[in-house]
Amino acid sequence: MRKVTLGLGSNSYDILIGSGLLMQTGARLKEIGFSDKLVIVTDPTVKKLYGDTLKQNLVDSGFEVLLLEVPEGEEQKSLETAGRLYHELTSFYAERTTPILALGGGVIGDLTGFVAATYMRGVPLIQLPTTLLAQGDSSIGGKVAVNHGQLKNKIGAFYHPRLTISDIATLKSLSPRELSDGLAEIIKHGAILDEEFFSYLEENLDKIKSLDDQVLERVVSRSAEIKAGVVEKDELDLGLRNILNYGHTIGHAIESASELKVWHGEAVAIGMLAEARISNKLGILDKNEVNRLKEIIARVGLPTELPPLEPEKMVQAMKHDKKILQGKIRFALPRTIGEVFITDEVSTSLIEQVLVKWNE
Ligand SMILES: NC(=O)c1ccc[n+]([C@@H]2O[C@H](COP(=O)([O-])OP(=O)(O)OC[C@H]3O[C@@H](n4cnc5c(N)ncnc54)[C@H](O)[C@@H]3O)[C@@H](O)[C@H]2O)c1
Repeated sequence: MRKVTLGLGSNSYDILIGSGLLMQTGARLKEIGFSDKLVIVTDPTVKKLYGDTLKQNLVDSGFEVLLLEVPEGEEQKSLETAGRLYHELTSFYAERTTPILALGGGVIGDLTGFVAATYMRGVPLIQLPTTLLAQGDSSIGGKVAVNHGQLKNKIGAFYHPRLTISDIATLKSLSPRELSDGLAEIIKHGAILDEEFFSYLEENLDKIKSLDDQVLERVVSRSAEIKAGVVEKDELDLGLRNILNYGHTIGHAIESASELKVWHGEAVAIGMLAEARISNKLGILDKNEVNRLKEIIARVGLPTELPPLEPEKMVQAMKHDKKILQGKIRFALPRTIGEVFITDEVSTSLIEQVLVKWNE
C-alpha cells in the first residue's frame, strides 16, 4: 500500500492506494474516529460489483449503513439528484458528523462531494474512487460540483474528503475504453510536471494495460502525488492550478461540441495533442516531443484524430469556457515534456489552423 498526504493545514488528509483496500474501509474509518452511522452513495453497476460487499464490511465493523443508489450517467450530476439525496439523508436522520462515502467514478465523486459539502453546511466526505480517472485525478483536489443544464460543473464548491481510499483491484472490472480514458489525465500529469514519470508510463504501458498490481499502484500514487502537490500550492484555483488545464481548453470544446459522445479523457487526449501542436507552431515545443505525445496516446488506445466537428464551433465553445479571461482564451501549453507554461497570447487563427490542418 502507498500513502499520499494532501497537506492543507488542518484540512490535510491521506489518500491510500493499494489492492484490496476497500474491505479495510470499516477499520480505517474507526481509526479516524467514526463509529456510528454512515451513508454510501453509489451507482447500480458499482453497487453490484463492490457496494453490497462494502456495506457488509461496514455493518460487520459496527456501523449503521444507508446505501443510496443513483442511476448512472453525467446527467445525474444535477441539483435534482442532489435534492433527492438530501431528502434521503434527512429521512435517515443523518447528522453533521455522519460521513458520506462516495463509491464510484467521477460522477459519483463530484455529486456526492457536492451533497456532502452542502448538507447541513458540510458533513464528512470519504472518497472511494473506482475508475482510473477518479483514482488518478478527479477524487483529488476538492472540486465537487453538479451541472447546470448544459453548463458543466457550474454549481460547486471546494470541499476535501477526510480520507480517500483507492482500491486498485476495482480497476479490474473496467472496460478497456474506461481504462484508456482514465489514462489521459495520468499522462497529462507526467507531461506537465514529471518527465521521469512520463517515461515510466511509456516503458510500462503494457503492464498498465494488463493491470499489473505493482505498476498500477505506482502509477495511481504518482499521479495523485503530482496533483496533490499542485493543489497544496493553489487550493482555490487562483493561479498554479491552471497548469492542470493542459489539454482541457480544446478538450472541453471537443467534449461539449460532441455532446459528450467523446468521453472526457478521450477529449483531453486530442486536446493535449492539439495544444502541443500549437506550442510547436509557436516555436516552443520540439516536433519530437509532439510525436512522443502522439505515440503514447495512440499506444494507450486513445484517439489521435480530431472528430468531425467544425473548427469554428469549437473555437466558439472555447470562448464560452471558464478559462477565458477578458475575452482571451487561456492555454496551458507544454514547453517540453515535463514542463508547461500559461499563456493567453494564442490567436484564434492559429487555433483554427491547427484544427483545420490536423495532419500538417
Ligand atoms: N472533480 C474533478 O476535479 C474532476 C476532474 C475530472 C473529471 N471529473 C468528472 O468526472 C466525471 C467522469 O468520471 P468517470 O470517467 O469516472 O465516469 P463515471 O463516474 O461516469 O463512471 C463511468 C462508468 O464506469 C462505471 N464504473 C465505475 N467504477 C467501475 C468499476 N470499478 N468497474 C466497472 N465499472 C465501473 C460506472 O458505473 C459508470 O457507468 C465527469 O463528470 C467529470 O466532470 C471531475
